[in-house]
Amino acid sequence: MNVFVTGGAGYIGSVCVEELLNAGNTVTVFDNLSEGHRSAVDPRAKFILGDLADRELVARAVVDAQVEAVIHFAAHALVGESMQNPGKYFRNNVAHGLNLLDAAVAARVRKFVFSSTCATYGVPETMPMDESLPQRPVNPYGESKLMFETMLRWYHQIHGLEFVAFRYFNAAGASRKFGEHHRIETHLIPNVLKVALGQRPQCEIFGTDYPTPDGTCIRDYIHIVDLAQAHILALAPGKAGFFNLGNGSGYSVREVIQTCAQLSGQPITAVEQPRRPGDPPRLVAAAGKALSELGWQPKFPSLEDIVATAWDWHKRHPAGYRD
Ligand code: UFG
Repeated sequence: MNVFVTGGAGYIGSVCVEELLNAGNTVTVFDNLSEGHRSAVDPRAKFILGDLADRELVARAVVDAQVEAVIHFAAHALVGESMQNPGKYFRNNVAHGLNLLDAAVAARVRKFVFSSTCATYGVPETMPMDESLPQRPVNPYGESKLMFETMLRWYHQIHGLEFVAFRYFNAAGASRKFGEHHRIETHLIPNVLKVALGQRPQCEIFGTDYPTPDGTCIRDYIHIVDLAQAHILALAPGKAGFFNLGNGSGYSVREVIQTCAQLSGQPITAVEQPRRPGDPPRLVAAAGKALSELGWQPKFPSLEDIVATAWDWHKRHPAGYRD
């Protein structure tokens, strides 16, 4: 298929583009490089430097590339930042995303795949979390993604746009070529691995008094290549709807740090800090719907495999991407 990937220079997008190309698709990447990296774009893809704010450019690009499917990764994705600057999240993730949605309808795109998040659920009342839970986001980031989900429902009903929206849990790990390099790194695994690389003296544990067995937050880590594979399955005709993507196993912050220490063979000093605002204690997916309806089968469900691929990539790219 001809696939148009926004945010294809970012962490999740770069690996998905690689997998799409490996599966024989033709890919156009559209990215403003505000968070992404030019060298994270697979050289087999066509690259357009552009911003979703530019309505005409987006519309033209979708027509020119004879797009059959859109995969929309481009977004701001930091919970903490969204609590400081909500306008940035609603403008980019909602208003600018709408330009892409309109372009897809105008060009009669067959499938729209959207990166949503488990942050749309807020603080869940039951665990593990399936797709039927009420969505009550507790920050503007989660709210902006939920608003886009709502727009997708209406665009489907009114314009017949077929869509898949994936609610990601915690994306982690790397492919052989592409890995995680955020300009400002806030994520747990890359920050812990920086200690193993000797780039930081210590990492931080945000909160040790949560109602969990070791007092630290529990998350469901999902390998980036498994995440990418789900997007390829979503392109098949007839696949539609909302799907959680996670492994169904939760690991605490302390367990992640311990795994990073074991796999890197390096001692890791961790300093206990107060809770980080907005962090739910435990987020674990029930992803049975993706398994049964999409035929999705994660290949790297263990935390060891996830951290091992991240460590391998960071060792080979200690400074991340060069641009
Ligand atoms: N944490 C630490 N120390 C750090 C970094 C993080 O203790 O240096 C803790 C956090 O407090 C949290 C856990 O590790 O409890 C995971 O934090 P991340 O920042 O790696 O990931 P989040 O769960 O906060 O957020 C990620 C994505 C969001 C997405 C969310 C869904 O960044 O975009 O997963 O769960 F919405």
